[in-house]
Amino acid sequence: MNHLVAPSMLSADFSNLQKDIEMVNRSDADWFHLDVMDGVFVPNISFGIPVVEAIAKYAKKPLDVHLMIVEPVKYVDAFYKAGAAVINVHYEACLHLHSTIQKIKSLGVKAGVTLNPHTPVSSLEEIVEDLDLVMLMSVNPGFGGQKFIENTIDKTRRLKELISRKNSRALIEIDGGVNFETGKRLLDAGADVLVAGSFVFGANDPVDTIAKLKTL
Ligand code: DX5
Ligand code: ZN
Repeated sequence: MNHLVAPSMLSADFSNLQKDIEMVNRSDADWFHLDVMDGVFVPNISFGIPVVEAIAKYAKKPLDVHLMIVEPVKYVDAFYKAGAAVINVHYEACLHLHSTIQKIKSLGVKAGVTLNPHTPVSSLEEIVEDLDLVMLMSVNPGFGGQKFIENTIDKTRRLKELISRKNSRALIEIDGGVNFETGKRLLDAGADVLVAGSFVFGANDPVDTIAKLKTL
């Protein structure tokens, strides 16, 4: 499979979101990555349901919603109605991960589980077969523009091994500190989806940067 690229709108211009949405629409990007933060699960607050709804109005590509919130199961329906095509919940935020995943799947959208940097891949032994996607945080969640955590390369390999061993069809998505250099190494290690925020929106030519991320 050719890998996917999902620009993170956390680094977009919030005073002119439509302009950045249209840039992503005309680029080679595959998904919009939308970071929802509640100020409790992570030490930052970003945006919620109304902004996801507003982005959905103009976005011509699937919305990959990354929920950095406590008890995400309570809001799965609302984000589905807002237009999510992928819902990523954190392993660390779900007391009943299995039922949360069943709930997401019952809505007909892709179900993903995200692991914080300290959470081992082996935590997913009993559930990986049910997942459409596993996302590894390669920075601590909460902010864009942080330094890539090197251990993620080996962790990606371990996740790939778990996915093959369990005959799971889950895609491997990586979030944080992705650029041409880390992106290439992550793809070699088995990543399928690269999220990139500051590297795309901080570039002189974001469309060209996305095109280059697509051809790594
Ligand atoms: C961090 C978010 C990321 C963030 C990545 O909590 O989940 O999606 O936007 O930003 P960069 O690509 O700048 O590390
Ligand atoms: Zn994210």
